[in-house]
Amino acid sequence: MESRRIAVCPGSFDPVTLGHLDIIRRASNLFDKVIVLISTNVSKTKTSFDLPERLMLMEKVIVGMDNVVIDILDGLLAEYVRNAKATVIVKGLRAVSDFEYEFQMALANKKLYPAAETIFLTTTSENMFLSSSVVKNIAYFGGDISPFVPECVCEDIKQRIHRTEEIS
Ligand code: PNS
Repeated sequence: MESRRIAVCPGSFDPVTLGHLDIIRRASNLFDKVIVLISTNVSKTKTSFDLPERLMLMEKVIVGMDNVVIDILDGLLAEYVRNAKATVIVKGLRAVSDFEYEFQMALANKKLYPAAETIFLTTTSENMFLSSSVVKNIAYFGGDISPFVPECVCEDIKQRIHRTEEIS
């Protein structure tokens, strides 16, 4: 039996924000190993980042976090958790508006794989209303996204959204 405590941190990360980074960092302090699981995009919009882009951004962001690895989720989360021998799904919880959606997913995952627990880390107050959509919206209109995304990927995100605007 696996004695190390393995957690997965699933999400779209489209793109990664300071809110995500905060949750990943705190999860890495709680568990022996954290797998950041980047989910394939079900609904793609003009400003969505594709999988290789989201992977590249996340690789930069987790530099120095020795117990954090990245993987791609292309299927059911519960199945991934089972196969990875993880026992915990970590999600960030922001405002009350997140609750119903997250509760539903946690219950579905519990039914699909009862051995795993979903735990929620409450966001910091600064990140309470931060989301990838907000970042994309600000970047699209040329606003300053530096308060919202990790510094090491700020320029990448700006360039990418700018490029989208040019070809749209
Ligand atoms: O960043 P998000 O949108 O909160 O991430 C959602 C994610 C990727 C965690 C969720 O869509 C997911 O688990 N997708 C995998 C498919 C799955 O397992 N669905 C059943 C649970 S509802």
